[in-house]
Amino acid sequence: MELGQRRLWSRRSHEQRVEKFYGWGVEGYGDFHGGYLNFGLWEEGINDYLAAAENMVRRMGTLLGLGGESRLLDVGCGMGAQDIYLLRAFEPQSIDALDVTWPHVEHARRRAREAGCEDRVHFRHGTATSLPFPGESFTHVLSIEAPEHFDTREDFLREAYRVLAPGGVTAFADYTLKRPPRNALERFIVEAARSLWKVPRVNVVTSDSYREKMQRAGFVNVEVEEVGRLTIPGYYREQRRPETVRELTKIRGRVAGRLGWVIDFAVLKAYEAGLMEYVFVRAEKPSARPSVGATARDC
Ligand SMILES: C[S@@+](CC[C@H](N)C(=O)[O-])C[C@H]1O[C@@H](n2cnc3c(N)ncnc32)[C@H](O)[C@@H]1O
Repeated sequence: MELGQRRLWSRRSHEQRVEKFYGWGVEGYGDFHGGYLNFGLWEEGINDYLAAAENMVRRMGTLLGLGGESRLLDVGCGMGAQDIYLLRAFEPQSIDALDVTWPHVEHARRRAREAGCEDRVHFRHGTATSLPFPGESFTHVLSIEAPEHFDTREDFLREAYRVLAPGGVTAFADYTLKRPPRNALERFIVEAARSLWKVPRVNVVTSDSYREKMQRAGFVNVEVEEVGRLTIPGYYREQRRPETVRELTKIRGRVAGRLGWVIDFAVLKAYEAGLMEYVFVRAEKPSARPSVGATARDC
């Protein structure tokens, strides 16, 4: 299949459901919120959404350690704003980016054309669990607020490991369960957030279990940093601003706009109840495999 083309997801597949969820009304998104969908990293002194969203992307680029030699793959790239930002801020050699939602890919390509950087950042339609790239193609793999959706996150981890070159680095902005729900109300909140947000049940895991899954996929030096207090309340405040509500209602329509509000509220409540966390995850692929027949003394 030609890599620039649209893929058709099979009926009722997870990919089709996610594409419908994110694609709803998105043709009218334009440059609202700068094209970012992330929660923002609301550190001291940051008071507006665009600054918070770019702060998030800059932090991920720094976590990855991007530089002039980097070949980056961004999985779940949304409307491409983050890749154009990373290209300018870190000047990597190349960026390939992929998303399951076709209208997001169209927005991203338009953005790259308008920014005059289509030759250095390539956007593709595809799914995280079957990456259309040969093994060891990239020095870095990024995913911002998308791994929770992948069906499954573990399948994506295997794919990320495969496409990374030895010594490569991966960084994700993602969500974990802080503790299991204790009663019916808590179970309801977690289940509502999960199912409305199109998160497969198997992806609802604690930070410890996340770390284990990364290690099982082969990654080393896995670090998980909890940053919910810098992300979730700030995003909720932004989404409740009357101007934001008005714009989102125009873009997504009244029903989908309300659904978005219910999801944001469930996420905030799950966070405030100490059930859910927002995490930065960073890990490395080992630089060389131990040679066959190596003994303890060889090491
Ligand atoms: C919350 S948005 C984040 C987008 C972007 N990273 C940003 O922060 O602006 C989640 C993105 O993940 C994408 N996505 C979900 N499941 C996917 C999959 N299986 N493969 C690739 N992308 C996927 C969605 O289409 C959506 O663009």
